[in-house]
Amino acid sequence: MEKSLAPRSVLVTGGCGFIGSCFIRMLRDRDPEVEIVNLDLLTYAGNPENLPGITDSPRYRWVRGDVRHEETVESLVGSADWVVHFAAESHVDRSTAAKAGAFVDTNVYGTFVLLDAVRRLRPECRYLQIGTDEVYGDVAFPQMPDEGWMLDPSSPYSASKAGADHIALAFARTHGVDVMVSRCTNNYGAYQYPEKMIPLFITNALDSLPIPLYDGGGQIRDWLRVEDHCEALLLILEEGRPGEIYNVGANQEPERTNLEVTEMILECTGASASLIEHRHGLRPGHDQRYAVATEKIRALGWTPRADIQEGIASTVRWYAENRGWWEAIKSGAYREFYEAHYGRPAS
Ligand code: NAD
Ligand code: DAU
Repeated sequence: MEKSLAPRSVLVTGGCGFIGSCFIRMLRDRDPEVEIVNLDLLTYAGNPENLPGITDSPRYRWVRGDVRHEETVESLVGSADWVVHFAAESHVDRSTAAKAGAFVDTNVYGTFVLLDAVRRLRPECRYLQIGTDEVYGDVAFPQMPDEGWMLDPSSPYSASKAGADHIALAFARTHGVDVMVSRCTNNYGAYQYPEKMIPLFITNALDSLPIPLYDGGGQIRDWLRVEDHCEALLLILEEGRPGEIYNVGANQEPERTNLEVTEMILECTGASASLIEHRHGLRPGHDQRYAVATEKIRALGWTPRADIQEGIASTVRWYAENRGWWEAIKSGAYREFYEAHYGRPAS
């Protein structure tokens, strides 16, 4: 397909979250003229401080609203050239707790509401569904699922994301909407909510708090810098084909276990290995390995730039230099989740 024209207006959902905010910062750097509308409900994971220097721009507008709310969504899709759907409940551990219906509600139904508005009111726009490699489930070594791999999600989170992918692809086939789906591996970097492994372990290490390593730490995740992910998303929006799925991943060689990543964090923070606290039973159904084949996105010209050692070092530097950002989170409502989940105070 021909390269798509530069968009004049982009609707981003979930742009106050970790990856959505990186995407907005990158889009703004590339094209200061583009209009960006950010639909974000500001759940516990959203934070307008993830968008420094952007919130005052006349070409940026944040709408505090819900992707599940038809009228709100209808009022926003009308002028969008691109719709990029990040908004989701994103944490696996919250999805395995009681009362996790928000995962189905936001991730599946929210995606439906957004797509249905696009179909009716803005069928000519490009729609990118931000998906996850977790939909392929636990992948035995040395398999590398490509985009046609059977979906086999393990957690309520990944099952809801698989449902969202299916809804999106159904709108492409049934209604001819210009939908694409990306499926990325684990991201890390600045502004990641400190419930996820890397920012949790870094911030706990910086405060000499226990580091709760699950189930022996032998699990594999294909860690990718968030900037590399967002570069891939921009490329898909510019050059991807309608109705197609694109895996995105670092393809770390060698693959790194959680324990090895934890050791990198300890080295960069100077914290003691005695902080590692082995925990069991906190992640029921724990997937042992994620991995994806990435030939398709690489054929568009994408290559991840950051290597993991360097990426962890610079991420540690960011958290060390931005204590105010994460201390505000860790001393707020997050404490309740932490105490309930880990059975000990967050600080
Ligand atoms: P996040 O939890 O940091 O941010 C989610 C954002 O969505 C928040 O700003 C929140 O306020 C907003 N939101 C939640 N429910 C909403 C609703 N009903 N209406 C409007 N806004 C709502 O998530 P993240 O880590 O940035 O992930 C973003 C997307 O990328 C998700 O779809 C996730 O499944 C996907 N993904 C994440 C990773 C990862 O490693 N973090 C990897 C692959 C894919
Ligand atoms: O693979 C992409 C997915 O990556 C995204 O779709 C999700 O939104 C994102 O949260 C992430 O999911 P994971 O479950 O892989 O990420 P998390 O950081 O929660 O866990 C990574 C690994 O670290 C996993 O094997 C569990 C382990 N872990 C996690 C936490 C929070 C621990 O050992 N201790 C912890 O306290």
